[in-house]
Amino acid sequence: MTLSIPAIESAAEAAIAAIAVASNLDDLKTVKIEHVGDKSPIARLNQGLGALEPSQRAEFGKILGEAKSAIGAAFAKRQEQLEIERDARVLLEEVVDVTLPASNAHRGGLHPLTVIKNEISDYFLSQGYSIAEGPEIEAGWLNFDALNIPADHPARTMQDTFFIEPIESGLVLRTHTSPVQVRTMLNEKPPIYIVSPGRTFRADELDVTHSPVFSQVEGLVVDKGISMAHLKGALDDFAMKMFGPDAITRLRPSFFPFTEPSAEVDVWFNNRWIEWGGCGMVNPKVLETCGIDSEEYTGFAFGMGLERTLMVRQGIKDMHDIVEGDIRFSRSFGLGL
Ligand code: DAH
Repeated sequence: MTLSIPAIESAAEAAIAAIAVASNLDDLKTVKIEHVGDKSPIARLNQGLGALEPSQRAEFGKILGEAKSAIGAAFAKRQEQLEIERDARVLLEEVVDVTLPASNAHRGGLHPLTVIKNEISDYFLSQGYSIAEGPEIEAGWLNFDALNIPADHPARTMQDTFFIEPIESGLVLRTHTSPVQVRTMLNEKPPIYIVSPGRTFRADELDVTHSPVFSQVEGLVVDKGISMAHLKGALDDFAMKMFGPDAITRLRPSFFPFTEPSAEVDVWFNNRWIEWGGCGMVNPKVLETCGIDSEEYTGFAFGMGLERTLMVRQGIKDMHDIVEGDIRFSRSFGLGL
């Protein structure tokens, strides 16, 4: 390329025109390499300076210098414009609307009844008990007869029990968790220390205090020398665990066919006595039915309603809240948030 004024002018014009049409900063970078870089026309013209006479060199040097600064100025100006455009675009694209509602992805949570059931299981495990389970569809013999509930006992009438068809099957929806006592004693030798939380069923209408499907926790201890004092101690500890350090229990004489003597358990909570469950010394008849020598071993048993325990402790007034499954109820216990 021969060094001449038109050549410089056209190189400068081409560079300035290319700079003007660069539509973004990347384009502008490419334009810079092509029109200002080492191999650009203007750079090559610049290399021609060395071959010139000193007088001409000064003249062309000045013209080239002016051309280069014109290109440089055009470049700087375009770069500034494109940067402003880019910044404006980024601001728009990355805008965050802090007034938009947050996306609420809820974690799952446990129902309060499950929580209290786990709490009770953990407590008894820590006391050396095991957890025992039995089926919800139970043999009538285990639900009643083996527990010394005779055929004419009111609990066996259609009123309370859901029978499984055909009736001759002898199957029922268990009306309490006590058949798990029998199952355990039939299968294990003393010493026995178990609790059995689980669902139970009675033909009751759903109302503020009743539900046809409810839950109980059964406790059973069979060992040598077990007395009512052990029962009272176990109940007091359990009550404190459930209702706080001020809780104590009171036993009121009562009757259950499977315990002798039998008692109702009340618990002192929020400055009043609350009916909590039933308990007693395992009836020797029941021990013998299960193949345990009642001369050698004695035992105690207790049974509490889990819904009732939860309602008393948390001040829940209506059973519907527990059974309906509205997640706002569970959330009010701080779960599942
Ligand atoms: N099974 C009884 C019920 O459902 C509760 C009960 C009372 C369980 C006394 C026991 C007990 O283990 O000893 O009403």
